[in-house]
Amino acid sequence: MLAVYAASQSSDDPLSGLEIGERPEPQPRPGWSIVTLKAAGLNHHDLFSLQGVGLPADRLPMVLGCDGAGLDEHGNEVIVHAVIPSEGWQGDETLDPRRTLLSELHDGTLAQKVAVPTTNLVPKPAGLSWEHAACLSTAWLTAYRMLFTNAGLTPGATVLVQGAGGGVATALVQLGSAAGYRMWVTSRDEEKGKRALEIGADAAFGSGERLPERVDAVMETVGAATWSHSVKSLKPGGTVVISGATSGDAPPKAELTQIFFRQLRVIGSTMGTRLELERLAQFVSHRGIEPVVDTVLPLEQARDGFAKMAAGDLFGKVVFTVS
Ligand SMILES: NC(=O)c1ccc[n+]([C@@H]2O[C@H](COP(=O)([O-])OP(=O)(O)OC[C@H]3O[C@@H](n4cnc5c(N)ncnc54)[C@H](OP(=O)(O)O)[C@@H]3O)[C@@H](O)[C@H]2O)c1
Repeated sequence: MLAVYAASQSSDDPLSGLEIGERPEPQPRPGWSIVTLKAAGLNHHDLFSLQGVGLPADRLPMVLGCDGAGLDEHGNEVIVHAVIPSEGWQGDETLDPRRTLLSELHDGTLAQKVAVPTTNLVPKPAGLSWEHAACLSTAWLTAYRMLFTNAGLTPGATVLVQGAGGGVATALVQLGSAAGYRMWVTSRDEEKGKRALEIGADAAFGSGERLPERVDAVMETVGAATWSHSVKSLKPGGTVVISGATSGDAPPKAELTQIFFRQLRVIGSTMGTRLELERLAQFVSHRGIEPVVDTVLPLEQARDGFAKMAAGDLFGKVVFTVS
């Protein structure tokens, strides 16, 4: 089958290890389903895998991709949940210390077919397009859990999203504004700030810019480059929810004094559960939310999508169509 896979890894030149070509089809196994993909989404995770972050070299070649939607063996329209718990795990799979994401241990979704545990299939709402359904499993699910499970917010709260252009960031803005939060964003790029206003943000600021007032919560995925600003932007008792560190995980200052003196909460967040993915799909469908898609490409042209992401030249998701 056609697949997009990591053949080797390089921290400086991630695209050098990216291959688009034939890989063996997944084989049936008890308790697992094989999904014939219609569309698959790109995440920063795929770029990190090519850089050797989170994917040990001895597992190569590995088909990349965590996001996907397609048809199961019975013709049901499904969204693939990417968090694979270890055998016998009960409860919240994101808390399983031996969980993996698709493309870390098992081949991922950037392919014509993917195998996943049958319990990882979520029904695709009928009104949701394949391209939009393929955005939900990673960036959107992460945004959903950050906002609705981990931030402790109620409607009317003001939420700052660092780095307006990303897949998680655009999902946060679209979900938060639909839920009645006042959504503020920062971006390195004024144009991306303007586009965030078009999708529901209430105000946009430059990276690191002083805000007109402090906020109830900050959604942090940028990491080192924005950490101090995130901490300083919170009201006393406010919450920073962090799910990523694209610019690195060693900020110049940890801001420990700010954190204890103003009694801030720092909450880590990773992916979400199958139930949260199902709720997210329903929420998006019921509210008519269309995930912002920067670029749609056939899987054969996946390299162009990876290059855009590596250049930071995106507003929203990159989606690959599969035929
Ligand atoms: N924990 C989890 O389960 C989970 C799930 C999904 C994603 N993540 C992580 O979240 C991060 C974002 O993922 P994504 O798929 O949304 O990536 P993406 O689409 O490539 O977005 C990258 C974002 O980072 C911002 N950015 C990058 N470098 C920056 C810098 N030096 N200074 C300021 N802003 C910078 C960009 O904002 P502007 O260009 O607008 O400034 C953009 O919003 C990644 O680190 C990813 O690994 C974690």
